[in-house]
Amino acid sequence: MSEQLTNEQLIQIANEFGTPVYVYNADKIETQYQRLSNAFGAERVKIFYAAKALTNLSVLRFIHHLGANVDCSSINEVKLALRAGFEPSRVLYTSNGIHFTEIEEALKLGVFVNIDSLSNLKKLGEKYGNQYPVGVRLRPNIMAGGNLKISTGHDRSKFGIPVEQLPQLMDIVKSSNIVIHNLHIHTGSDIKDADVFIKGIDVLFDIIPHFPDLKSIDLGGGFKVGYKEDDPVINIEELSQKVLAAFDAHEAARHLEIWFEPGKFIVSESGCLITSVNLLKETAATTFVNINSGFNHLIRPMFYDAYHRIENITNPEGAVNTYSVVGNICETDTFAWDRPLPEVREGDLLVFYNAGAYGYEMASTFNSRFRPAEVIVRNGKAQLIRKRDVFEDLIRNQVEVDLK
Ligand code: LLP
Repeated sequence: MSEQLTNEQLIQIANEFGTPVYVYNADKIETQYQRLSNAFGAERVKIFYAAKALTNLSVLRFIHHLGANVDCSSINEVKLALRAGFEPSRVLYTSNGIHFTEIEEALKLGVFVNIDSLSNLKKLGEKYGNQYPVGVRLRPNIMAGGNLKISTGHDRSKFGIPVEQLPQLMDIVKSSNIVIHNLHIHTGSDIKDADVFIKGIDVLFDIIPHFPDLKSIDLGGGFKVGYKEDDPVINIEELSQKVLAAFDAHEAARHLEIWFEPGKFIVSESGCLITSVNLLKETAATTFVNINSGFNHLIRPMFYDAYHRIENITNPEGAVNTYSVVGNICETDTFAWDRPLPEVREGDLLVFYNAGAYGYEMASTFNSRFRPAEVIVRNGKAQLIRKRDVFEDLIRNQVEVDLK
Protein backbone atom coordinates (compact mmCIF):
# COMPACT_ATOMS: atom_id res chain seq x y z
CA MET A 1 0.00 0.00 0.00
CA SER A 2 1.28 3.42 -0.85
CA GLU A 3 0.03 6.64 0.79
CA GLN A 4 1.30 8.95 -1.94
CA LEU A 5 1.27 8.48 -5.69
CA THR A 6 4.62 9.23 -7.35
CA ASN A 7 5.15 11.87 -10.03
CA GLU A 8 5.86 9.04 -12.49
CA GLN A 9 2.52 7.39 -11.72
CA LEU A 10 0.68 10.70 -12.15
CA ILE A 11 2.46 11.49 -15.44
CA GLN A 12 1.55 8.05 -16.73
CA ILE A 13 -2.10 8.59 -15.77
CA ALA A 14 -2.13 12.00 -17.51
CA ASN A 15 -0.67 10.40 -20.64
CA GLU A 16 -3.14 7.55 -20.60
CA PHE A 17 -6.35 9.37 -19.65
CA GLY A 18 -5.61 12.98 -20.62
CA THR A 19 -6.04 16.10 -18.49
CA PRO A 20 -7.68 17.57 -16.54
CA VAL A 21 -8.22 14.43 -14.53
CA TYR A 22 -9.04 13.74 -10.90
CA VAL A 23 -6.98 10.90 -9.45
CA TYR A 24 -7.83 9.13 -6.19
CA ASN A 25 -5.51 6.82 -4.30
CA ALA A 26 -7.68 4.08 -2.80
CA ASP A 27 -4.82 3.01 -0.52
CA LYS A 28 -4.93 6.44 1.13
CA ILE A 29 -8.71 6.22 1.59
CA GLU A 30 -8.13 2.92 3.34
CA THR A 31 -5.42 4.28 5.67
CA GLN A 32 -7.57 7.27 6.61
CA TYR A 33 -10.53 5.02 7.37
CA GLN A 34 -8.27 2.68 9.37
CA ARG A 35 -6.96 5.66 11.36
CA LEU A 36 -10.53 6.53 12.29
CA SER A 37 -11.54 3.03 13.22
CA ASN A 38 -8.36 2.55 15.27
CA ALA A 39 -8.83 5.86 17.07
CA PHE A 40 -12.52 5.24 17.75
CA GLY A 41 -12.01 1.53 18.37
CA ALA A 42 -14.98 1.33 20.71
CA GLU A 43 -17.87 -0.81 19.58
CA ARG A 44 -20.29 2.01 20.35
CA VAL A 45 -18.76 4.43 17.79
CA LYS A 46 -20.12 4.31 14.24
CA ILE A 47 -18.52 6.08 11.28
CA PHE A 48 -20.80 7.33 8.49
CA TYR A 49 -18.81 8.51 5.46
CA ALA A 50 -20.30 11.86 4.31
CA ALA A 51 -20.89 10.93 0.70
CA LYS A 52 -21.30 14.55 -0.42
CA ALA A 53 -17.49 14.87 -0.41
CA LEU A 54 -17.12 12.37 -3.27
CA THR A 55 -19.94 10.22 -4.60
CA ASN A 56 -18.32 8.26 -7.39
CA LEU A 57 -19.88 4.78 -7.25
CA SER A 58 -16.55 2.95 -7.25
CA VAL A 59 -15.38 5.07 -4.32
CA LEU A 60 -18.63 4.42 -2.45
CA ARG A 61 -18.31 0.70 -3.14
CA PHE A 62 -14.74 0.71 -1.82
CA ILE A 63 -15.71 2.60 1.34
CA HIS A 64 -18.55 0.12 1.90
CA HIS A 65 -16.02 -2.69 1.56
CA LEU A 66 -13.85 -1.00 4.22
CA GLY A 67 -16.77 -1.39 6.64
CA ALA A 68 -18.05 2.19 6.90
CA ASN A 69 -21.66 3.34 7.01
CA VAL A 70 -22.71 6.27 4.84
CA ASP A 71 -24.34 9.67 5.44
CA CYS A 72 -26.30 11.22 2.57
CA SER A 73 -27.47 14.76 1.91
CA SER A 74 -30.05 14.15 -0.80
CA ILE A 75 -32.35 11.37 -1.93
CA ASN A 76 -30.12 10.85 -4.95
CA GLU A 77 -27.10 10.29 -2.70
CA VAL A 78 -29.23 7.73 -0.86
CA LYS A 79 -29.93 6.00 -4.18
CA LEU A 80 -26.24 6.11 -5.14
CA ALA A 81 -25.27 4.61 -1.78
CA LEU A 82 -27.81 1.78 -2.16
CA ARG A 83 -26.63 1.18 -5.69
CA ALA A 84 -23.04 1.00 -4.46
CA GLY A 85 -24.07 -1.85 -2.16
CA PHE A 86 -24.75 -0.18 1.18
CA GLU A 87 -27.49 -2.04 3.02
CA PRO A 88 -30.34 0.35 3.94
CA SER A 89 -29.51 -0.22 7.61
CA ARG A 90 -26.09 1.33 6.99
CA VAL A 91 -27.47 4.45 5.29
CA LEU A 92 -28.26 7.68 7.06
CA TYR A 93 -30.00 10.60 5.40
CA THR A 94 -29.34 13.92 7.16
CA SER A 95 -31.91 16.08 5.46
CA ASN A 96 -31.89 19.84 5.24
CA GLY A 97 -34.75 22.00 4.02
CA ILE A 98 -36.24 19.30 1.82
CA HIS A 99 -39.80 18.59 0.76
CA PHE A 100 -41.55 16.03 2.98
CA THR A 101 -42.03 13.65 0.05
CA GLU A 102 -38.26 13.09 -0.01
CA ILE A 103 -38.32 12.02 3.63
CA GLU A 104 -41.13 9.59 2.85
CA GLU A 105 -39.19 8.17 -0.07
CA ALA A 106 -36.10 7.64 2.09
CA LEU A 107 -38.11 5.99 4.89
CA LYS A 108 -39.72 3.64 2.41
CA LEU A 109 -36.27 2.68 1.14
CA GLY A 110 -35.51 1.59 4.72
CA VAL A 111 -33.01 4.36 5.43
CA PHE A 112 -32.70 6.19 8.76
CA VAL A 113 -33.48 9.92 8.49
CA ASN A 114 -32.41 12.91 10.55
CA ILE A 115 -35.15 15.55 10.31
CA ASP A 116 -34.10 19.19 10.50
CA SER A 117 -37.33 21.19 10.74
CA LEU A 118 -40.41 21.33 12.95
CA SER A 119 -42.52 21.47 9.81
CA ASN A 120 -41.32 18.09 8.50
CA LEU A 121 -41.38 16.54 11.96
CA LYS A 122 -45.02 17.54 12.30
CA LYS A 123 -45.86 16.06 8.90
CA LEU A 124 -44.09 12.84 9.84
CA GLY A 125 -46.03 12.62 13.09
CA GLU A 126 -49.39 13.34 11.46
CA LYS A 127 -48.89 10.78 8.71
CA TYR A 128 -46.91 8.02 10.36
CA GLY A 129 -47.08 8.49 14.15
CA ASN A 130 -44.56 6.13 15.71
CA GLN A 131 -44.16 3.93 12.61
CA TYR A 132 -40.67 5.18 11.66
CA PRO A 133 -38.14 6.00 14.39
CA VAL A 134 -36.13 9.04 13.27
CA GLY A 135 -33.41 11.41 14.37
CA VAL A 136 -33.65 15.16 14.82
CA ARG A 137 -31.00 17.58 13.69
CA LEU A 138 -30.55 20.36 16.23
CA ARG A 139 -28.84 23.70 15.87
CA PRO A 140 -26.66 24.05 18.96
CA ASN A 141 -25.78 27.74 18.39
CA ILE A 142 -22.05 27.09 18.29
CA MET A 143 -19.73 28.94 15.91
CA ALA A 144 -17.24 26.50 14.41
CA GLY A 145 -15.46 25.60 11.19
CA GLY A 146 -12.85 27.09 8.89
CA ASN A 147 -14.94 29.99 7.59
CA LEU A 148 -18.51 31.30 7.73
CA LYS A 149 -19.53 29.61 4.47
CA ILE A 150 -18.86 26.19 5.96
CA SER A 151 -20.06 26.97 9.49
CA THR A 152 -23.44 25.36 10.13
CA GLY A 153 -24.26 25.35 13.84
CA HIS A 154 -24.29 29.05 14.76
CA ASP A 155 -27.31 31.07 15.82
CA ARG A 156 -28.01 32.50 12.35
CA SER A 157 -27.53 29.22 10.51
CA LYS A 158 -30.37 27.66 8.50
CA PHE A 159 -29.41 24.15 9.60
CA GLY A 160 -31.32 22.15 12.16
CA ILE A 161 -34.00 22.94 14.70
CA PRO A 162 -32.72 25.71 17.00
CA VAL A 163 -32.16 24.11 20.38
CA GLU A 164 -34.20 26.84 22.07
CA GLN A 165 -37.24 25.47 20.23
CA LEU A 166 -37.11 22.26 22.27
CA PRO A 167 -40.57 22.92 23.83
CA GLN A 168 -42.22 23.11 20.39
CA LEU A 169 -40.28 20.04 19.26
CA MET A 170 -41.45 18.09 22.33
CA ASP A 171 -45.07 19.11 21.73
CA ILE A 172 -44.92 17.60 18.24
CA VAL A 173 -43.12 14.45 19.41
CA LYS A 174 -45.62 13.86 22.22
CA SER A 175 -48.77 14.65 20.33
CA SER A 176 -47.92 12.09 17.60
CA ASN A 177 -45.90 9.61 19.68
CA ILE A 178 -42.91 10.03 17.38
CA VAL A 179 -40.02 7.75 18.33
CA ILE A 180 -36.73 9.66 18.43
CA HIS A 181 -33.68 7.38 18.22
CA ASN A 182 -30.98 9.93 17.41
CA LEU A 183 -29.98 13.52 18.22
CA HIS A 184 -27.80 15.12 15.55
CA ILE A 185 -25.59 18.18 15.30
CA HIS A 186 -23.04 19.22 12.67
CA THR A 187 -21.34 22.50 13.45
CA GLY A 188 -19.09 22.98 10.41
CA SER A 189 -16.22 21.80 8.24
CA ASP A 190 -12.45 22.24 8.84
CA ILE A 191 -12.79 21.89 12.62
CA LYS A 192 -9.34 21.57 14.16
CA ASP A 193 -10.27 21.73 17.80
CA ALA A 194 -11.66 18.64 19.56
CA ASP A 195 -13.27 20.87 22.17
CA VAL A 196 -15.82 22.10 19.64
CA PHE A 197 -17.31 18.60 19.74
CA ILE A 198 -17.30 18.67 23.54
CA LYS A 199 -19.22 21.96 23.48
CA GLY A 200 -21.80 20.33 21.22
CA ILE A 201 -22.00 17.30 23.49
CA ASP A 202 -22.70 19.55 26.48
CA VAL A 203 -25.67 21.09 24.68
CA LEU A 204 -27.05 17.65 23.79
CA PHE A 205 -26.45 16.05 27.19
CA ASP A 206 -28.75 18.62 28.80
CA ILE A 207 -31.66 17.48 26.69
CA ILE A 208 -31.18 13.69 26.64
CA PRO A 209 -33.77 13.17 29.43
CA HIS A 210 -36.50 14.44 27.10
CA PHE A 211 -35.94 11.50 24.74
CA PRO A 212 -36.53 8.15 26.49
CA ASP A 213 -36.14 6.12 23.24
CA LEU A 214 -32.76 7.60 22.39
CA LYS A 215 -30.16 5.15 21.02
CA SER A 216 -27.45 7.43 19.63
CA ILE A 217 -25.91 10.88 19.51
CA ASP A 218 -24.62 11.98 16.12
CA LEU A 219 -21.88 14.60 16.24
CA GLY A 220 -21.62 15.16 12.47
CA GLY A 221 -18.35 15.53 10.57
CA GLY A 222 -15.96 18.38 9.90
CA PHE A 223 -12.57 16.92 10.90
CA LYS A 224 -9.93 19.27 9.53
CA VAL A 225 -7.24 17.96 7.21
CA GLY A 226 -4.05 19.88 6.36
CA TYR A 227 -4.12 21.85 3.14
CA LYS A 228 -0.85 23.71 3.87
CA GLU A 229 2.19 21.83 5.12
CA ASP A 230 2.04 23.50 8.54
CA ASP A 231 -1.76 23.59 8.85
CA PRO A 232 -3.11 22.59 12.24
CA VAL A 233 -5.25 19.45 11.83
CA ILE A 234 -7.66 17.71 14.13
CA ASN A 235 -6.10 15.18 16.48
CA ILE A 236 -8.36 12.17 16.02
CA GLU A 237 -6.92 10.26 18.97
CA GLU A 238 -7.45 13.23 21.30
CA LEU A 239 -10.96 13.71 19.93
CA SER A 240 -11.82 10.08 20.52
CA GLN A 241 -10.43 10.08 24.04
CA LYS A 242 -12.24 13.30 25.01
CA VAL A 243 -15.57 12.26 23.48
CA LEU A 244 -15.53 8.77 25.01
CA ALA A 245 -14.57 10.22 28.40
CA ALA A 246 -17.43 12.72 28.22
CA PHE A 247 -19.94 9.98 27.38
CA ASP A 248 -18.61 7.71 30.14
CA ALA A 249 -18.81 10.51 32.69
CA HIS A 250 -22.46 11.23 31.96
CA GLU A 251 -24.85 8.71 33.45
CA ALA A 252 -27.63 9.31 30.92
CA ALA A 253 -25.25 8.99 27.94
CA ARG A 254 -23.35 5.83 28.84
CA HIS A 255 -25.66 3.51 26.96
CA LEU A 256 -25.75 5.60 23.77
CA GLU A 257 -23.97 4.98 20.49
CA ILE A 258 -21.77 7.80 19.17
CA TRP A 259 -21.96 8.60 15.46
CA PHE A 260 -19.64 10.68 13.28
CA GLU A 261 -20.01 11.75 9.66
CA PRO A 262 -16.56 12.63 8.28
CA GLY A 263 -16.19 13.41 4.57
CA LYS A 264 -12.94 15.32 4.04
CA PHE A 265 -11.00 13.22 6.53
CA ILE A 266 -11.66 10.05 4.55
CA VAL A 267 -11.23 11.21 0.95
CA SER A 268 -9.62 14.65 0.72
CA GLU A 269 -5.96 13.67 0.85
CA SER A 270 -6.53 10.69 -1.41
CA GLY A 271 -7.29 12.92 -4.37
CA CYS A 272 -5.53 15.32 -6.70
CA LEU A 273 -6.36 17.15 -9.90
CA ILE A 274 -3.85 16.94 -12.76
CA THR A 275 -3.99 19.84 -15.21
CA SER A 276 -1.72 20.95 -18.00
CA VAL A 277 -0.33 24.35 -18.84
CA ASN A 278 -1.86 26.01 -21.91
CA LEU A 279 0.32 29.10 -21.94
CA LEU A 280 2.31 31.63 -19.95
CA LYS A 281 1.55 35.33 -19.93
CA GLU A 282 4.09 37.85 -18.63
CA THR A 283 2.59 41.02 -17.16
CA ALA A 284 3.92 43.86 -15.02
CA ALA A 285 2.13 42.51 -11.94
CA THR A 286 2.85 38.80 -12.28
CA THR A 287 3.50 35.91 -14.61
CA PHE A 288 0.25 34.08 -15.28
CA VAL A 289 0.22 30.35 -15.84
CA ASN A 290 -2.99 29.48 -17.70
CA ILE A 291 -3.98 25.88 -17.13
CA ASN A 292 -6.61 23.82 -18.95
CA SER A 293 -9.00 24.04 -16.00
CA GLY A 294 -10.79 26.63 -13.88
CA PHE A 295 -13.20 26.99 -10.98
CA ASN A 296 -15.55 24.86 -13.03
CA HIS A 297 -13.32 21.93 -12.01
CA LEU A 298 -12.02 22.94 -8.58
CA ILE A 299 -14.05 25.72 -7.00
CA ARG A 300 -12.51 25.69 -3.52
CA PRO A 301 -9.83 28.39 -4.08
CA MET A 302 -12.33 30.90 -5.49
CA PHE A 303 -15.27 29.98 -3.27
CA TYR A 304 -13.55 29.60 0.10
CA ASP A 305 -10.13 31.19 -0.54
CA ALA A 306 -8.85 27.68 0.02
CA TYR A 307 -5.16 26.88 -0.37
CA HIS A 308 -4.18 23.82 -2.42
CA ARG A 309 -0.58 22.70 -2.73
CA ILE A 310 0.53 22.79 -6.37
CA GLU A 311 3.41 20.88 -7.89
CA ASN A 312 4.97 20.99 -11.31
CA ILE A 313 5.45 17.26 -11.74
CA THR A 314 7.09 17.49 -15.16
CA ASN A 315 9.82 19.88 -14.01
CA PRO A 316 10.18 19.31 -10.26
CA GLU A 317 13.87 20.23 -10.23
CA GLY A 318 13.43 23.46 -12.23
CA ALA A 319 14.62 26.80 -10.84
CA VAL A 320 11.94 28.29 -8.63
CA ASN A 321 10.04 31.35 -9.91
CA THR A 322 6.88 33.06 -8.73
CA TYR A 323 3.71 32.52 -10.75
CA SER A 324 -0.01 33.17 -10.55
CA VAL A 325 -1.88 30.05 -11.54
CA VAL A 326 -5.18 30.79 -13.29
CA GLY A 327 -7.67 28.93 -15.43
CA ASN A 328 -9.30 29.41 -18.80
CA ILE A 329 -12.73 30.52 -17.58
CA CYS A 330 -14.33 33.82 -18.64
CA GLU A 331 -14.14 35.31 -15.16
CA THR A 332 -11.51 35.47 -12.49
CA ASP A 333 -10.49 31.94 -11.59
CA THR A 334 -7.27 32.25 -9.64
CA PHE A 335 -5.98 29.04 -8.12
CA ALA A 336 -2.94 30.72 -6.55
CA TRP A 337 -1.47 34.21 -6.62
CA ASP A 338 2.33 34.68 -6.46
CA ARG A 339 3.06 31.02 -5.78
CA PRO A 340 6.69 29.84 -5.94
CA LEU A 341 6.94 26.89 -8.35
CA PRO A 342 9.75 25.16 -10.23
CA GLU A 343 10.05 26.77 -13.68
CA VAL A 344 6.74 26.31 -15.50
CA ARG A 345 6.73 25.73 -19.26
CA GLU A 346 3.86 25.31 -21.70
CA GLY A 347 2.75 21.68 -21.61
CA ASP A 348 3.95 21.06 -18.04
CA LEU A 349 1.62 19.15 -15.73
CA LEU A 350 0.51 21.01 -12.60
CA VAL A 351 -1.05 18.94 -9.83
CA PHE A 352 -3.41 20.27 -7.16
CA TYR A 353 -3.23 18.14 -4.05
CA ASN A 354 -5.81 17.44 -1.37
CA ALA A 355 -8.62 17.72 -3.88
CA GLY A 356 -10.43 14.43 -3.27
CA ALA A 357 -13.22 16.06 -1.23
CA TYR A 358 -15.56 18.63 -2.77
CA GLY A 359 -13.41 18.70 -5.93
CA TYR A 360 -15.11 16.74 -8.71
CA GLU A 361 -18.23 16.84 -6.58
CA MET A 362 -18.59 20.61 -6.97
CA ALA A 363 -17.50 20.68 -10.63
CA SER A 364 -19.75 22.14 -13.30
CA THR A 365 -19.90 22.61 -17.04
CA PHE A 366 -19.67 26.43 -16.83
CA ASN A 367 -18.52 27.97 -20.12
CA SER A 368 -19.75 24.73 -21.70
CA ARG A 369 -16.52 23.03 -20.78
CA PHE A 370 -16.35 19.35 -19.97
CA ARG A 371 -16.09 18.04 -16.44
CA PRO A 372 -12.85 16.08 -15.89
CA ALA A 373 -12.42 12.33 -15.94
CA GLU A 374 -11.88 10.43 -12.67
CA VAL A 375 -9.32 7.69 -12.15
CA ILE A 376 -8.67 5.55 -9.08
CA VAL A 377 -5.44 3.76 -8.18
CA ARG A 378 -5.48 0.61 -6.06
CA ASN A 379 -2.28 -1.28 -5.29
CA GLY A 380 -0.51 0.60 -8.10
CA LYS A 381 -3.17 -0.10 -10.74
CA ALA A 382 -4.97 2.90 -12.30
CA GLN A 383 -8.56 2.50 -13.52
CA LEU A 384 -10.95 4.96 -15.12
CA ILE A 385 -14.05 5.43 -12.94
CA ARG A 386 -15.70 8.28 -14.83
CA LYS A 387 -15.20 9.34 -18.41
CA ARG A 388 -14.56 12.95 -19.23
CA ASP A 389 -17.72 14.66 -20.52
CA VAL A 390 -18.19 14.76 -24.27
CA PHE A 391 -20.14 17.28 -26.33
CA GLU A 392 -23.23 15.05 -26.24
CA ASP A 393 -23.32 15.42 -22.43
CA LEU A 394 -23.77 19.17 -22.79
CA ILE A 395 -26.84 18.85 -24.98
CA ARG A 396 -28.34 15.57 -23.74
CA ASN A 397 -31.19 17.12 -21.74
CA GLN A 398 -31.78 20.17 -23.85
CA VAL A 399 -35.01 20.46 -25.76
CA GLU A 400 -34.43 22.53 -28.86
CA VAL A 401 -37.52 24.54 -29.72
CA ASP A 402 -38.07 26.82 -32.64
CA LEU A 403 -39.31 30.23 -31.40
CA LYS A 404 -39.50 31.95 -34.77
N1 LLP B 1 -22.39 15.93 8.01
C1 LLP B 1 -23.13 16.98 7.60
C2 LLP B 1 -24.52 17.10 8.06
C3 LLP B 1 -22.57 17.93 6.73
O1 LLP B 1 -23.30 18.97 6.33
C4 LLP B 1 -21.22 17.78 6.29
C5 LLP B 1 -20.62 18.75 5.38
C6 LLP B 1 -20.49 16.66 6.75
C7 LLP B 1 -21.11 15.77 7.62
C8 LLP B 1 -19.09 16.39 6.31
O2 LLP B 1 -18.18 17.41 6.60
P1 LLP B 1 -16.62 17.19 6.34
O3 LLP B 1 -16.16 16.08 7.24
O4 LLP B 1 -16.44 16.79 4.91
O5 LLP B 1 -15.97 18.49 6.64
N2 LLP B 1 -17.59 22.25 0.30
C9 LLP B 1 -16.93 22.66 1.54
C10 LLP B 1 -17.33 21.80 2.70
C11 LLP B 1 -18.82 21.84 2.95
C12 LLP B 1 -19.28 20.81 3.93
C13 LLP B 1 -20.77 20.70 3.97
N3 LLP B 1 -21.25 19.75 4.92
C14 LLP B 1 -15.41 22.62 1.32
O6 LLP B 1 -14.98 22.27 0.22
O7 LLP B 1 -14.65 23.00 2.22
